[in-house]
Amino acid sequence: SSKEDQTVLDANNWLMKLYHHLLRNTKEGKEGYAYLIERGFTDEIIDRFQLGYAPNSKDFVVRFLEKKGFHPQAMVKAGLLSVNDHGEYSDRFRGRVIFPIRNHLGKTVAFGGRAIFDQEPKYLNSPETELFQKGKLLYNFDLARSAIRKKGSVILFEGYVDVIAANQAGVENGIGTLGTSITEQQAKLIRRYVDQAIVCYDGDRPGIEASLKAAKLLMKTGCQVKMARLPDGMDPDDYIKAYGAERFQNEVIGASDTYVAFIMRHLRKEFNLNLEGDRITYVEKVLKEVATVDRAIEREHYLQELANEFELSMDTLKDEVAKLSKRQG
Ligand code: UTP
Ligand code: MN
Ligand code: MN
Ligand code: MN
Ligand code: MN
Repeated sequence: SSKEDQTVLDANNWLMKLYHHLLRNTKEGKEGYAYLIERGFTDEIIDRFQLGYAPNSKDFVVRFLEKKGFHPQAMVKAGLLSVNDHGEYSDRFRGRVIFPIRNHLGKTVAFGGRAIFDQEPKYLNSPETELFQKGKLLYNFDLARSAIRKKGSVILFEGYVDVIAANQAGVENGIGTLGTSITEQQAKLIRRYVDQAIVCYDGDRPGIEASLKAAKLLMKTGCQVKMARLPDGMDPDDYIKAYGAERFQNEVIGASDTYVAFIMRHLRKEFNLNLEGDRITYVEKVLKEVATVDRAIEREHYLQELANEFELSMDTLKDEVAKLSKRQG
């Protein structure tokens, strides 16, 4: 019911404030604060995103929520506490830097916690609840909305750390999925606001694979998609820390590739294009991707790129793509 929802929102809000206060003003939060400063985040950013710290305690939050009058059982259901087989309640987040996760209305509905003492897993999020469904939420959408409208585009990151690092680097239209690739629902949501999306996932293998999936889903909704240009193995946060805000804006976001150019760039590494056999396989693989592109103008653009590089006729390439499209239905 909406009364229960309100209780959960209240609890999340109290907890966000507690975690933030601990990080900013107390001895308990010192290690969390030091961790964030060490990673290059400023006080201004820590406050803007209400970053916090969950103390390394079994029952700090249990006692806090109890004192505020929340029923522990309801707090377990809200994903804020854990309970064991003996019915003993305990803190879910311990010794972690906390990232409040807000919904599109700016209400905190969940938390993400980054381990700072080598605990596993490195990232722990709230479990899914009625108010928090990972596949429906876009991190930072509430704060980014006006910049998204103004720019007519969104930049899509893997998660909160990269969104926040990019924000500190002056990129205000950034939003994040939470560790997984985008869902169809999220893609549709994005499409309601913009014509263009720039995918800026990590430059490692899982990131590249997730980028391809995200791009396909976004294109399916009719979004124009560009792919940011991150060096191999780096993520946006790594890049910003290594090369600074200006280069991130100009050489990663500003120099985004088309979808097929991105595929070409990564596929290329797997082939020796001086060998005829490799060249053919490579062109075939790229054509298979081109065949999945819905817009005819875009397809034509990619075929032209291939025709130029490999001295092939447009007619041959078009025939091939037509065959592949038919097969894929
Ligand atoms: P990564 O797995 O790329 O984090 O997750 P990382 O870059 O190695 O982590 P750092 O830099 O050492 O801290 C990227 C983002 O995906 C989300 C988080 O928001 C994270 O910042 N994520 C990741 C989750 O939400 N859940 C997970 O289990 C993993
Ligand atoms: Mn990782
Ligand atoms: Mn990653
Ligand atoms: Mn990463
Ligand atoms: Mn990282």
